[in-house]
Amino acid sequence: MKKLFFNIKELLQVREPGITKVSGTAMKKLPIIKNAWLLVENDKITDFGEMNSLPEIETDERINAEGKFILPGWCDSHTHIVYAGNREQEFADRINGLSYAEIAKRGGGIPNSAKTLQATPEEEIYRQSAERLEEVMKQGTGAVEIKSGYGLDEEGELKMLRIIKKLQQKYDLPIKSTFLGAHALPPEYKENREAYVQMVIDKILPKVAKHKLADYIDIFCEEGYFTVEDTHKLLSAGKKFGLKPKIHVNQFQAIGGVQAGIEHQALSVDHLEVMPSEDIKSLQATSTMPVALPCCSLFLSIPYTPAREIIDSGLPLALATDFNPGSSPTGNMNLVVSLACIKMNMTPEEAINAATINGAYAMELSQTHGSITKGKQANFILTKEIPSYTFLPYAFGTNSIEKVYINGKAIQ
Ligand code: NIG
Ligand code: FE
Repeated sequence: MKKLFFNIKELLQVREPGITKVSGTAMKKLPIIKNAWLLVENDKITDFGEMNSLPEIETDERINAEGKFILPGWCDSHTHIVYAGNREQEFADRINGLSYAEIAKRGGGIPNSAKTLQATPEEEIYRQSAERLEEVMKQGTGAVEIKSGYGLDEEGELKMLRIIKKLQQKYDLPIKSTFLGAHALPPEYKENREAYVQMVIDKILPKVAKHKLADYIDIFCEEGYFTVEDTHKLLSAGKKFGLKPKIHVNQFQAIGGVQAGIEHQALSVDHLEVMPSEDIKSLQATSTMPVALPCCSLFLSIPYTPAREIIDSGLPLALATDFNPGSSPTGNMNLVVSLACIKMNMTPEEAINAATINGAYAMELSQTHGSITKGKQANFILTKEIPSYTFLPYAFGTNSIEKVYINGKAIQ
């Protein structure tokens, strides 16, 4: 099956094979081809160029993209899409004056979602999660990571990871799975944090590994959740099973989680709303990707990750949604890209780089996704007729997407 897109106003994020991420000032550059064509054969991008170089090609379908842009599908490297029910009551409680920490203290927050998840049948959670996944795919997401972490016991955690596996089997986009057993303390371990971590390590982790249910391991390293010591213990245990870390750090306090992640060669360190200069320094010359989650900052009214300081220090940065019921009940990467520009002072070029190739890196998918490159999977967004790519983050809240392609097929 050969599909030719022609008269494309601009083909965005065109890169040579082998580019796995972009850092520092290089993030300001978004390579484009104006007035372009793009050839897709089955599920792959096989060729592209300028219209004046369009060769004679026999095709099965020709799509006129006049006035429209094509860019890689968003690579959302941090989500909690699998969950049961919602927490809109806590949202109302926060409006009425309670803080996220106060809600957590009185039994709300993550353990609240865990209670709902434990009481909901697997099939029903799958149905709710699949609905969310389909929604974000329509919003342009072409690769995604999903975490466990709302089970908080063996049964619940394995249930979540099995649901992720079913989603991987059903849907065509790549889905990476992360084991986040150490997300919060369940009530029965409230006074016994170390025992919970030990239980996760001794009881749940070996089963996760045995059934090959996860690609990565995660922990919420934060005051009131898990310590740096817990983080070292868990990540060392994960390593024995070949699980690379992608961890939650510096959301409310910087307690040394960034350094712990680096020590364990974390693929990414995520959140970073609080980012002292030592932590920025620690990330220099490492292969760990910093990941910002601006929808979480918006929703919880907490600081935004200091993207300017991070990028201006020469580091790369990725953007993700953090789609979850407590701190970011949206998986819309278009909004993430807009917020990055509006609230974090990232240029549209930086934001698009962060949400595509750098997001792919944070899921070890840069060889196959995250850019328009010959040989990569044909996961991309065809926009509506828009004046420029800057219009995408500028017109926040507007749906500028006409069609989303996953492995060369339009999904709607
Ligand atoms: O990434 N910070 C930890 N975990 C989630 C929030 C989870 C929740 O409130 O349900 C996050 O923001
Ligand atoms: Fe998260």
